[in-house]
Amino acid sequence: MNVHFSSKTDLWSTPESFYQKQNEIYNFTLDPCCTTENRKCEKHYTIDDDGLAQDWGRETVWMNPPYGREIKAWMKKAYESSLLGATVVCLVPSRTDTVWWHEYAMKGEIEFIKGMLKFGDAKNSAPFPSALVVFEASQNHSLAKHDADVRRSALTDAMTTVFNECDCDCAYRAIGLISDKLEA
Ligand SMILES: C[S@@+](CC[C@H](N)C(=O)[O-])C[C@H]1O[C@@H](n2cnc3c(N)ncnc32)[C@H](O)[C@@H]1O
Repeated sequence: MNVHFSSKTDLWSTPESFYQKQNEIYNFTLDPCCTTENRKCEKHYTIDDDGLAQDWGRETVWMNPPYGREIKAWMKKAYESSLLGATVVCLVPSRTDTVWWHEYAMKGEIEFIKGMLKFGDAKNSAPFPSALVVFEASQNHSLAKHDADVRRSALTDAMTTVFNECDCDCAYRAIGLISDKLEA
């Protein structure tokens, strides 16, 4: 088997014309999994940086991950990064029977690609179908942070009130007050 068609290879570079069409729509700012040769964005992470360990912030991310077992970790990272404010467009094999597909891909917008892509410098089409999975940046991440800040501040106020008026059952009163505040 040609190594380029092995699921173990991570050399499935995106066809340039296919990438450009998506880039016209999204205007990508980060490629988190690439080599310096096949990177799609100025800002990028190679295996030496370990893109999985980086914060993808609020970038617009083009993610064509390694296609081995590690694909699950990349899809998890893509989904979770979208909850924190990144928009992530993933080019992945359509493996609709897998755990990662059901746990993560199905949380995104899925576009099945007609025909098979020709990856990298390959003359032949890939022997598997591909899909684009789009995780839009969550609009709720800043609201969630605001909510957490309000709750933290309410807790601090409650604790201060209790310990300022401290008597022997202050710990129980603190717990009661905290519970009331959290349920409010
Ligand atoms: C399918 S290729 C995609 C390359 C390029 N992003 C593209 O779209 O053409 C996956 C790339 O991920 C890189 N890679 C593998 N593990 C990585 C890691 N932990 N962090 C960053 N890049 C990694 C590989 O070297 C490979 O070039």
